Amino acid sequence: MPIKSILIHPDKRLRTKAVEIIDLSDEYIKLADTMLETMYAAPGIGLAAPQIGSLLRLIVLDCNKVEESEFRPLQMFNPKIMEFSEERDIQEEGCLSIPDQFGEVERPSVVSVGWVDKTGIEKKETFEGIWARCIQHEIDHLEGKLFIDYLTPLRRQLITRKMKKLKKGINQK
Ligand code: NI
Repeated sequence: MPIKSILIHPDKRLRTKAVEIIDLSDEYIKLADTMLETMYAAPGIGLAAPQIGSLLRLIVLDCNKVEESEFRPLQMFNPKIMEFSEERDIQEEGCLSIPDQFGEVERPSVVSVGWVDKTGIEKKETFEGIWARCIQHEIDHLEGKLFIDYLTPLRRQLITRKMKKLKKGINQK
């Protein structure tokens, strides 16, 4: 299966609100599979469609990877947070579109998420820990939001400058 290249911040497509998927065509299912391959290869634990330049509400993730247990690949079409806990926690985050940069982000600890799976069935599940965090991070991508938006302006500018330099080096437009 082909692997896509991942867009690096700053890029307009990473700042654009993604559109709802109305018709779950083979093309989108294929895209979701390609995204999983791309994510595993990176390696990463989550990827949103805008990160490979497709402005669609589609995310993939597998947070089991980091705990070296069994694989649990998830492909979520039109994911939506239905409920979140009042309890919040702070953890360090990174992003495949902002390589080698990390920052502490505060988010709700537990979230209930609704989505459509690749067979067209509506799902709802409650996630906690790293899963809850990863899903919120990926859904942010669908709104054109990045984890650095939670950091101080100074830190964000510093990271953005580093990324511009990196992009020049690898020639990504
Ligand atoms: Ni990300």
